[in-house]
Amino acid sequence: MHNVPITARRAPLRRTALILAALAAAAPAIAEDFGDTPYVQTPQNVVDKMLEIAKVGPRDFVIDLGSGDGRMIITAAKKRGARGFGVDLDRRLVALANRNAAKAGVADRAVFYERDLYKTDIRRATVMTIYLLPEVNLMVRPKLLSSLRPGTRIVSHDYDMGEWTPELSLVMDAPGKTVGRDMKSKVFYWVVPATVSGTWRWQVTRSGRTQDFDLAAEQMFQNFDGTVVSEGRSGKIEGGKLAGNRITLATMIDDGGGATRYEFSGRVAGDRIKGEIRMVRNGETSKTPWVARRVEKRQPRHMSLPPPTPFDPPR
Ligand SMILES: C[S@@+](CC[C@H](N)C(=O)[O-])C[C@H]1O[C@@H](n2cnc3c(N)ncnc32)[C@H](O)[C@@H]1O
Repeated sequence: MHNVPITARRAPLRRTALILAALAAAAPAIAEDFGDTPYVQTPQNVVDKMLEIAKVGPRDFVIDLGSGDGRMIITAAKKRGARGFGVDLDRRLVALANRNAAKAGVADRAVFYERDLYKTDIRRATVMTIYLLPEVNLMVRPKLLSSLRPGTRIVSHDYDMGEWTPELSLVMDAPGKTVGRDMKSKVFYWVVPATVSGTWRWQVTRSGRTQDFDLAAEQMFQNFDGTVVSEGRSGKIEGGKLAGNRITLATMIDDGGGATRYEFSGRVAGDRIKGEIRMVRNGETSKTPWVARRVEKRQPRHMSLPPPTPFDPPR
């Protein structure tokens, strides 16, 4: 683990610092400024809510990007028995966070490093927490989606992630909040989806007859669409959805002698899917195992979205 010198910060951080400085200046009585890097705290009741929404527990490894005084990871360790680390560019905040962890008796499970969040290895996380800015969220989004394992939960204070629809969002009272006028906080929650873009293939044997199926999936975050083709007949994917590794989709294919509705559910493991197919034809339902393999991989659409423009104002 290497330290990143303060001077190595990137242009986005300067913008972050400027906007945070403006936010902090808006509430000078309460906002704390540790000098070089302005920072805004998440109120403790919002920290508690974020960890509750992500269902953080003793098996979790939590990473906070831009960890401030360490409250997110310290609370995750102290109240929920988790482990984790935080990173921040401000070495005084990092020192404060490590002191706070020691005071709370969780220094063995909550550790803080002076490091740039963009250069942080986050692959170990089962839960990620962030309180950054809208454009920083968008800049960090590709890293979250490409580095984190499917099923990893992400919770963000106040800002969303653009086109990535959250699984849950709420507004709550935030007494003592140091920015804004209404003492309210927003919380957003996502689950990192498995990557299913590309072409998948499987067979179904019914009444002694084996049928080949191809699924061509175009993925945008946790949703995907495309077509299922079997023996020259095709059906549009309906409700293609990923909840971490869990995949569900349905389609209707008319083979000339009548329409069959296929409902698929299973788990994605790399280039394999294992699950079940439920088929409904002429009012009769049957089930069969579903074992599919990916024969062609493609990049999900969400990985080629344009980066945010530098001067997007905070929403
Ligand atoms: C809004 S504060 C959030 C602090 C804490 N996570 C909380 O919720 O109370 C954002 C923090 O991110 C840090 N930060 C900003 N850009 C960073 C970067 N590129 N790498 C690491 N930390 C960064 C700032 O120093 C600041 O402490």
